[in-house]
Amino acid sequence: MNAPSAMSASSLFDLHDRTAVVTGAMGLLGKEHCRALASAGARIVATDLDTGSALSFAEELRARGASGVLMMDADVTSPESLLALRDAALEQFGALDVLVNNAAIDDKVELPATALEESRFEQYALRRWRRALDVNVTGVFLASQILGTEMAKAGRGSIVNVASTYGVVAPDQALYRTPQGEQTFFKSPVYPTSKGAVLSFTRYLAAYWGDAGVRVNALSPGGVQNGQDAHFVASYSSRTLLGRMARPDDYRGALLFLASDASAYVTGTNLIVDGGWTAK
Ligand SMILES: NC(=O)c1ccc[n+]([C@@H]2O[C@H](COP(=O)([O-])OP(=O)(O)OC[C@H]3O[C@@H](n4cnc5c(N)ncnc54)[C@H](O)[C@@H]3O)[C@@H](O)[C@H]2O)c1
Repeated sequence: MNAPSAMSASSLFDLHDRTAVVTGAMGLLGKEHCRALASAGARIVATDLDTGSALSFAEELRARGASGVLMMDADVTSPESLLALRDAALEQFGALDVLVNNAAIDDKVELPATALEESRFEQYALRRWRRALDVNVTGVFLASQILGTEMAKAGRGSIVNVASTYGVVAPDQALYRTPQGEQTFFKSPVYPTSKGAVLSFTRYLAAYWGDAGVRVNALSPGGVQNGQDAHFVASYSSRTLLGRMARPDDYRGALLFLASDASAYVTGTNLIVDGGWTAK
């Protein structure tokens, strides 16, 4: 690894000869993270609960510049599953350099008829609380422990934990009202709690592995426009300084920054990319 001072601007972001694991890789943002890392030349390990139908995505990543692609199912709440992923990635690529802990659940209430009652804090179900903490917090811990330990052994690496603006500020429950002011559901208590825990874990691990050469940072996205109704999009957009929701590809630059040597002196931080939502 060259000292950043000796590197050109583009080589600061270069990820050739680096292996990057992305969890939750088949989701809306997971795919964008893979695309960003591929465009910088990384070898990509794209993992999700089910990557079975994703052969064309592997082809796309190669076409974008990935120097290798491994698609493999793994459940971030299962140590066995992550150990199998680690072994397969090491066998194919020999090292692990970047881990993007992106997998999470956002605890959507499925039935509009019961959504309001089910999402009320006073009766929020313990099973929902436990499930989201398991995926969003324990999953980040486990993937960091099993995959990150390889980085610590090698004396280098970058872990990017995907958090959320809702790990930093409280949800604005008024967003989930109709134009007539009727609350349709409440954002759950567990999602912000889990993302706050991810931020705290990020600082813990950055401190723990600082002298092992492993940097650990969080990336906190704001809301992505993805088929929400026009009233929601307008309300959300008016809460940002840039006057719009994020596009799915708005996080590519921030992710590459944290994954690469461009952020060689950055650890333990939270990079908020939210169009100014949390600044307002
Ligand atoms: N989309 C947004 O507006 C937004 C805003 C802020 C933060 N985020 C965060 O960004 C990340 C990605 O969000 P997204 O919108 O792409 O979500 P998504 O639901 O589209 O993707 C999440 C992926 O995680 C996978 N996953 C769920 N449980 C898993 C498990 N146990 N093991 C392995 N994989 C599992 C799912 O299969 C899915 O493909 C999440 O951490 C989310 O909290 C998203």
